[in-house]
Parts: sequence; C-alpha cells; structure tokens
Amino acid sequence: MVAPRRAPELASVAEAVLAVGGTCLDIVADALDPQAAAEVVASAVTTFGSVGIALLNAGQGPDISMDDVSTDHLSRIMALNYDVVVNYLNPLIRQMKSQPDGGLIAHTNSLAGLMGIPRHGPYSAARQRRVP
Ligand SMILES: NC(=O)c1ccc[n+]([C@@H]2O[C@H](COP(=O)([O-])OP(=O)(O)OC[C@H]3O[C@@H](n4cnc5c(N)ncnc54)[C@H](OP(=O)(O)O)[C@@H]3O)[C@@H](O)[C@H]2O)c1
Repeated sequence: MVAPRRAPELASVAEAVLAVGGTCLDIVADALDPQAAAEVVASAVTTFGSVGIALLNAGQGPDISMDDVSTDHLSRIMALNYDVVVNYLNPLIRQMKSQPDGGLIAHTNSLAGLMGIPRHGPYSAARQRRVP
C-alpha cells in the first residue's frame, strides 16, 4: 500500500508494482490529516486483513533563514516532519496491538534529528529522537 498526496505519481508507482506481479493498494492521502491517516490504515486492514509493516517516510527539510521566516512557516515545517509521523503512529499502534503477531513500524528519520544542522532549525527539532 502507498499513500502520498500526488495522484499521478502514485498511479505510476502502483502500475510499476502491478507490472512485476505485486499487489498495490494506492490511496491519495495527506499525512497532515489525522483522519486521512486513520482511513488509510483502515483501508489497508480491509484489503489485506492486517498491517504487518509500515514505513513512515513523509517529510521534508527546507533550507531556511531564521532571520526572515514567519512563525506560521516554522510551525508548518514542524508539522510536515512531526505530525505526519504521529498521525500514523496512533492508528497503526492500535491496529498492530490487536494483531496476534503485532507489527513493525519504521520511520525514515535524519541525522538532523541527532545533531543540529545549520539553516534546518525546525526540521532538526521535529526530527529529534532519543534512542532508548
Ligand atoms: N533526501 C535526503 O537527503 C534525506 C536525508 C535524510 C532523511 N531524509 C528523509 O527521508 C524521507 C524522504 O525524503 P526524500 O528526500 O526522499 O523526499 P521526497 O523525494 O520529497 O519524498 C517524500 C515522499 O513523501 C511523500 N510525502 C511528503 N509529505 C507528505 C504528506 N504530508 N502526506 C503524504 N505523503 C507525503 C511525498 O509524496 P507526495 O509529495 O506525493 O505527497 C514523497 O513520496 C523524509 O522523511 C526526509 O526527511 C531525506
């Protein structure tokens, strides 16, 4: 299953998967929308019966200057890199905990989450993770 925002690109990914004999559920969904994320997870369960593995890959780290960026823009970058993960974590964890074999959630993070990167302040902040 693949769930990005751009329909044309999604269609070509789904075609490529089908062309090699795979199965691909393709849904256009904005990970910034928690309801859309929950519906994506529900659709995966309806189609495949469970969710074994989820890769949360959405994110972007634009080059910005803190001198001339608005607080709205900063908040937007935080959301583009933090909310997109949390919005999927909630329905995925609930679903996987209900499955006898659980599941695996992976997330494409960045070195920016381990160290501050110049001109990437909100991206680094949103990607900060602690390894337990
Ligand atoms: N490129 C790097 O050097 C680098 C380095 C370290 C970490 N990363 C991380 O790796 C991940 C992928 O980066 P990339 O460089 O491959 O980026 P990319 O080429 O822009 O790909 C990002 C993918 O996520 C989707 N996406 C973005 N925002 C979304 C949203 N709100 N809802 C649903 N789908 C969304 C995009 O599809 P749509 O636009 O169609 O939604 C696209 O398929 C990101 O999390 C990034 O932070 C990248």
